[in-house]
Amino acid sequence: HHHDNDDLRSLIRTVPDYPKPGIMFRDVSTLLLDGAGFRTMIDRMAAMVDSDTKFIAGIEARGFIVAAGLSYALGLGKVMLRKPGKLPGAKIGVDYELEYGSDRLEMHIGHVGAGDKILLVDDLIATGGTALAGLDLIHQAGGIVEQSLFIVDLPDLGGADKLRHSGIKADSLICFDGD
Ligand code: PRP
Ligand code: MG
Repeated sequence: HHHDNDDLRSLIRTVPDYPKPGIMFRDVSTLLLDGAGFRTMIDRMAAMVDSDTKFIAGIEARGFIVAAGLSYALGLGKVMLRKPGKLPGAKIGVDYELEYGSDRLEMHIGHVGAGDKILLVDDLIATGGTALAGLDLIHQAGGIVEQSLFIVDLPDLGGADKLRHSGIKADSLICFDGD
C-alpha cells in the first residue's frame, strides 16, 4: 500500500515546520496545480466510490474541490458541509475540537432524505475531528454514511481508524506515515 499512487504522491509538496516546528505539512495545492494529476486523482477516487452512493458530502474548504470533481465524474449531487454562518436555509451545526481551538460545520436540512447513502469526502484526514463532525451532521440530517474517501491519510494521527471503528470505510489514495 505504501507505494500506491506514487505518481500522485510525488505531486504533493511537504512543507516542514508548518504550521509549527516539527510538523510536516502535506500540501495538496501542488497536486491541484497539475491538471493531468488532478484528473488522474479524480478518476482513481471515482473508481473507488460505492455504486449505491446517492450524494457526495464535501467539507469546506479543500474537501469541496474533491467533492466537485467526483460529482462531475459520477453525475452525483453534492452536499456542502460548511464553516459557520454561510448557509441561508434551515440548518444544523456541530462544534468540533481541533489541535488548537475549535471550529464548527453546518449543513442544510431537508435536502438529504432519510436513508440516503452519503459518501463523505475531504482532501486529508489527520486526527479525524473534522470528518467525525461531518459524519455527525449527516447522521443528524437522516443520511447514512458507509464510506469516506480522502486524497491523503496521515495514519499516525488515527482519524481513519476512528472512522473504521465507527463502522465506516475510510479509503485514501495516499498515506504519509512516520517517515
Ligand atoms: C484540514 C483538512 C481537513 C482537516 C483534517 O482542514 O483539509 O479538512 O484539516 O484534520 P483533522 O483530521 O485533524 O480534523 P482545515 O480546517 O485546516 O482547512 P481548509 O478549510 O483549508 O480545508
Ligand atoms: Mg479542510
